[in-house]
Amino acid sequence: MRIGILTSGGDCPGLNAVIRGIVLKGTEINDQEFVGFRGGWRGVVKSDLIELGRANVRGIAKEGGTILGTSRTNPFEGEGGPERIQANMEREGIDAIIAIGGEGTLAAAKRLTDAGLKIVGVPKTIDNDLDATDYTFGFDTAVQIATDAMDRLRTTGDSHSRCMVAEVMGRHVGWIALHSGMAAGAHAILIPEQKTTMDEVRGWVESANARGRSPLVVVAEGFIPGSADDAHSERGLDAFGRPRLGGIGERLAPMIEEMTGIETRATTLGHIQRGGVPSAFDRVLATRLGMAASDSVQAGNWGQMVALRGTEIENVGFEEALGKLKTVPQARYDEAAQLFG
Ligand code: F6P
Repeated sequence: MRIGILTSGGDCPGLNAVIRGIVLKGTEINDQEFVGFRGGWRGVVKSDLIELGRANVRGIAKEGGTILGTSRTNPFEGEGGPERIQANMEREGIDAIIAIGGEGTLAAAKRLTDAGLKIVGVPKTIDNDLDATDYTFGFDTAVQIATDAMDRLRTTGDSHSRCMVAEVMGRHVGWIALHSGMAAGAHAILIPEQKTTMDEVRGWVESANARGRSPLVVVAEGFIPGSADDAHSERGLDAFGRPRLGGIGERLAPMIEEMTGIETRATTLGHIQRGGVPSAFDRVLATRLGMAASDSVQAGNWGQMVALRGTEIENVGFEEALGKLKTVPQARYDEAAQLFG
């Protein structure tokens, strides 16, 4: 069987380890051949391919980014669509696709599978917001990068007796903020799932300051302050019609300074969280998911993605995978909040 692999949506540490896992298991055990589509769904629509053999994936598990490139191209837009993709696959002799991507990618994969294409998914998001899998690769690395950055923000904050605001990724959910904030000993963690008033933030900042600490406030990009209706967005929409987020930290810093009289600085960690080498945990998870995706194609599990459940890799239908966001449970937030201030 000849299989096309694509990486689509925002990149994330571990993508190359997935590609390597698929190709090694597929070529050595499952008698499969591979090509890579360049630039996500764009490569599928435009038939932009590279051959992917064992030699092409040598040593890449530790490399950040994706050797295939990625994009947020929607395969249904412009000249795309199932007929065109099917025709391209037939011409290139490709029997099936493994799509590695997040919510947008898997939604597109589901529509294409419903139209008769043979697709298996591998979940990818540093936000860790897909309910059907316990963890996504890239999340552990992002949390470590954010924690390292916060450790650094704390020493400069302490030197200047400033309040430091650290903005991390997290479109709909606050997992990166919760984990990195807890790890760094933040005095407040603000996440999309929790309506928090500026009065509460002031209380935590002032209480830390009163003990002689430099307050650290961690905010997820999707956080909606008490008075607002939507997450802060000033950069329009992406190809899937979702607002591009980022900038809430810069908005909060002057408000905190004004309310408390404490000099405040904001740092947006942004794409630094998605760059560089994956952690060992992410490499292992990504490799296992890749190997399982090769098996899943062999078994003809079209319209399903591989997922981590406990310590086992299982198959989950796209419908279930897309059905629910994995939000931070109230109990997890309340537990962390006991240490705020
Ligand atoms: O979906 C993952 C994510 O990293 C979000 O946390 C963030 O909002 C978005 O991607 C950023 O996307 P882009 O790389 O297109 O700016």
